[in-house]
Amino acid sequence: MNATTALLSLRGVSRTFTTRRALLGRRLDVVHAVNDVSLDIAAGETLGIVGESGSGKSTLGRVALRLIEPDRGTIEFDGRDLLGADGRDLRRERQRMTVIFQDPYTSLDPRWTVERLVGEPLRIAGGTSPADQRDRVVEALRRVGLEPDVLTRRPRGFSGGQRQRIVIARALVTRPKLVFCDEPVSALDVSTRARVLGLLRELQVETGLAYLFVSHDLGVVEAVSDRIAVMYLGSIVEVGGAETVAQRYGHPYTAALVSASPAPDPLDRGAKRRIVLRGDPPSPITPPSGCAFHPRCPLAQPVCAVRKPPLRADPDGHAVACHRTAEDRRLRGADLLDLLRGEPTMNLLTPEGTPT
Ligand SMILES: Nc1ncnc2c1ncn2[C@@H]1O[C@H](COP(=O)(O)OP(=O)(O)OP(=O)(O)O)[C@@H](O)[C@H]1O
Ligand code: SF4
Ligand SMILES: [Mg+2]
Repeated sequence: MNATTALLSLRGVSRTFTTRRALLGRRLDVVHAVNDVSLDIAAGETLGIVGESGSGKSTLGRVALRLIEPDRGTIEFDGRDLLGADGRDLRRERQRMTVIFQDPYTSLDPRWTVERLVGEPLRIAGGTSPADQRDRVVEALRRVGLEPDVLTRRPRGFSGGQRQRIVIARALVTRPKLVFCDEPVSALDVSTRARVLGLLRELQVETGLAYLFVSHDLGVVEAVSDRIAVMYLGSIVEVGGAETVAQRYGHPYTAALVSASPAPDPLDRGAKRRIVLRGDPPSPITPPSGCAFHPRCPLAQPVCAVRKPPLRADPDGHAVACHRTAEDRRLRGADLLDLLRGEPTMNLLTPEGTPT
């Protein structure tokens, strides 16, 4: 996909945070939350972003919608330079790019009625009469399966799933083209989760919305995404069609995510042992040199500590950033997993979680 067909297009986007090490300390740490990320989202598409906690998923989504500013890079939304927009233009773009956050308990002010909560983005945007606002709120509520009798109620009396429906209605009320869903079902129980994911899919079919869908759970991301990007320490290490990334993955880190995912591995050929990566993710304050995954990667070679591997794409758009596997198409999916499982440097666990 090129920038002219993409709804949202990021090129070379980076974002760091500077934090003080101690309360009164002088020492400043620089956190490389998002590091030189390029990606496209087409209209009506779901791009899933998956990675461990701290890999930069939320920061990437926030930067992509310009809720926070990038340090470097360019962002185009619907053919326009998002970073050049200001004032009224930026407010207009913000209506067309909205957000659903993880926790429906903290993202709804308990003192407000449903009508005020869902209508707030329209009031902020201006330009609609109170009567129009009410009609749009009712329309958004209906879309998420709530009747107008909830208008005067406050969030307190609603279940987690209903609250998340209210949050989704609020994200839809401005009729956006893109919604950034940041772990939208992580706080919900399993059956509610399935219903909310089904609702998001229905809304997409009805309205042609695009989603930037972030989760640490590969199973959830695979269930909703057309394409998946895998993040590790601020960088995208693999991206491609959802089925390809989930089943014909080519990056050792993606293989570890698939192996650890509770969803059954469809290509698991009877070798049921999970891969467990050694150690915790390194700190984004001092990311490892070369390939940031090298201290944990059983396939690492000397070059991996020195040179950062670029994302290399197959003709079908499946791209992998790895010195060893990117160009060797035999090292995909179950074959890569088998290779990793055979590595003596891997910790291996049985399905019951007992080290072998
Ligand atoms: N406002 C901030 N100030 C300082 N550091 C931040 C800030 N926001 C994020 N970070 C750091 O940037 C890195 C990426 O954080 P981010 O929240 O984007 O990760 P994430 O992948 O969304 O993680 P999670 O799955 O836990 O939500 C982390 O190391 C985090 O501590
Ligand atoms: S580049 Fe090297 S360290 Fe990084 S994932 Fe590939 S083999 Fe492992
Ligand atoms: Mg997050």
